[in-house]
Amino acid sequence: MPRKNPGMAGGRRETPPASFYGALRGALRAWFRAHARPLPWRETRDPYAIWVSEVMLQQTQIATVIPYYVRFLEAFPTLTHLANAPRERLLELWSGLGYYRRARYLHQAAQHLREKFAGRIPSDYVSLRALPGIGDYTAKAVLSIAFHQPYAVLDGNVARVVARLFALRGNLHQPQFRRAVEGELTQLLSRRLPGDFNQAMMELGQTICLPRAPRCPVCPLRKRCRGFDSGDPESFPLPLPRRTTESHYLAVALLRRGPRVALVRGLDEGVLADLWNFPAAFGPSLMEARERLREKLHLLTHLALSLGEPVADFRHSITFRSIRGSVYPVEGCRGIPREAVRWFDLTGLPQAAISQLARKIVQKISG
Ligand code: ADE
Repeated sequence: MPRKNPGMAGGRRETPPASFYGALRGALRAWFRAHARPLPWRETRDPYAIWVSEVMLQQTQIATVIPYYVRFLEAFPTLTHLANAPRERLLELWSGLGYYRRARYLHQAAQHLREKFAGRIPSDYVSLRALPGIGDYTAKAVLSIAFHQPYAVLDGNVARVVARLFALRGNLHQPQFRRAVEGELTQLLSRRLPGDFNQAMMELGQTICLPRAPRCPVCPLRKRCRGFDSGDPESFPLPLPRRTTESHYLAVALLRRGPRVALVRGLDEGVLADLWNFPAAFGPSLMEARERLREKLHLLTHLALSLGEPVADFRHSITFRSIRGSVYPVEGCRGIPREAVRWFDLTGLPQAAISQLARKIVQKISG
């Protein structure tokens, strides 16, 4: 149980001496050496591989990323392999990982580096940050882990660790809180091993300093943690306001020719723009979505196709959209112009760059 000492959390803050930060750093380093999980991107020093891992880890859980990372590096072992690959191959390997813009940017960045940097990853912040898909976080992660430069990275996990260590109130949307966290993190950063330091902080946030029920008894920093001293470490930081989910309806068209089905690029309204999907339309109700789908098919094929009774219903989430929908078979697919859609063999579909939603629909209609 955390010790009770609520007075520590509030009031005027004293700046701890340098030795305090040194002691925290030492305890963190010893713990990370003993407990670091053997993640595949920790077995390489190749800046390209580290860059790929950091892009995949944006918005995606480690357990999900691992098999994608391994397959990706087998397919594209160097930046030149990636730059020379067709975009379709990249999307096939990314299929299921989500946030497909990341794959597109990775590809564009690799092509840019092939042309302008002789296929090398730049080791300065300004050049890295100028690449598509590399924000402040990813640039600092790559520079610290691959090039040992003294940049501290700040994500939600790290912010939680720092907020608890120093009993900082607020959340990352508040500039004052962010500045306070960055200030403490800069003091704490190891200048000698910044990459290990950053990964140790992430690891502590992912495995010990959990949002709910933190594992304080096994935390290497608890002796110097003001959040622990306060008796209520969970109250740091304040939760971020949640983005509310939106309800959408989606009507999906099933166009079949024998064993083949028709797919198009993108879903609707710019969603999943790079991936193959069944032709579909969003709407505020299923009836309106169905009507929009009919119009969309007309624009696509120049035919007045009619939609039959639904053959499957589904629920699916894409980022903040919570989707309910139905799949409608379409009659009269013979006259569809060649260029309007791409016909895929149902059995080969799982290997193609299709969306998770399309995958789900394939299962429903095959099962
Ligand atoms: N999240 C983002 N980058 C990471 C890394 N290098 N290790 C573990 N989790 C991460």
